[in-house]
Amino acid sequence: MPNLQNQIALVTGATAGIGQVTATELAKMGAHVVILARNAEKAAATQREIKAAAGHDHVDVLLADLADLSQVRRAAAEFNAKYPRLDILVNNAGLILGAERQTSPEGYELGVATNHLGPFLLTSLLFDKLKASPAARVVNVASTAYRMARPDFADFQSARSYGALAVYANTKLYNILFTQELARRLRAHGIGNVTTNALHPGVVASSFGSGAQGLMSIFVQLGRPFMISSAKGAETSIFLASAPEVASISGGYFDKKKAQAVKNSFNTPGHARQLWETSEELTGTSFLA
Ligand SMILES: NC(=O)c1ccc[n+]([C@@H]2O[C@H](COP(=O)([O-])OP(=O)(O)OC[C@H]3O[C@@H](n4cnc5c(N)ncnc54)[C@H](OP(=O)(O)O)[C@@H]3O)[C@@H](O)[C@H]2O)c1
Repeated sequence: MPNLQNQIALVTGATAGIGQVTATELAKMGAHVVILARNAEKAAATQREIKAAAGHDHVDVLLADLADLSQVRRAAAEFNAKYPRLDILVNNAGLILGAERQTSPEGYELGVATNHLGPFLLTSLLFDKLKASPAARVVNVASTAYRMARPDFADFQSARSYGALAVYANTKLYNILFTQELARRLRAHGIGNVTTNALHPGVVASSFGSGAQGLMSIFVQLGRPFMISSAKGAETSIFLASAPEVASISGGYFDKKKAQAVKNSFNTPGHARQLWETSEELTGTSFLA
């Protein structure tokens, strides 16, 4: 087990499923863990559980709903004021929404706001703290659902055409494109002390899909007996966040701790750049320009 003493790790979506296991295991390795959560009660309960499992008290809570960019800005400012650096950032929180299109406080489609724009803004605003680490890792939890993605940048907010699964697949491809573009920009800026990788955790019997409706909800329920545990599902996140053997790997997409090719015709450097620029515009931020 790697020793993460003196490392500061931020895990989003740590109040359930894969994120909770990831945060717990990093804390058990000695990391000072900060959990970003939107629900204060759940966060306090999770904080208690992680402290008990890790046997130390270095577990903090940062409250923010990732879909609300003003909350992301406030949480990032709180983090930046309190901690000297960030060694591990796990952008884990993510969801699939229901059959009705919903919007975030900024008026963005809620799935793209939660799964992509919030994490993009958070990473941007914490970037100076990542740079301040001797060796920082940004781990982005994507999904093999990216294979079904057919994004239309002209309808980025799914205003003309909305489908819960289509949005989910698109945002999971965005997680991978973001990872690749971040790795490219880090290299272009000669920043060698920050790496980033994306992953598919497996098909996990977590709370995932609890907000789904119709056929998608039936599919999730029927599939549950065949799914892996959250503990198993967290293995690749923990591996990318802590294993020495991937310390210098960046821009990869992993499944079962192995690097995999990304199979989607939309996966091009041009689209990754376009996604980055669109995300900067929509979140009002700019980094690694
Ligand atoms: N489960 C699977 O089979 C599977 C497969 C492939 C990829 N993934 C990916 O794995 C990641 C984790 O999923 P999971 O299976 O562990 O799901 P989960 O059990 O539903 O947990 C999701 C976590 O994200 C948090 N979250 C959701 N929306 C948020 C928001 N707007 N702001 C802040 N936190 C938010 C949830 O908080 P609350 O507790 O407040 O709801 C929860 O802690 C997701 O990115 C998902 O896309 C999962």
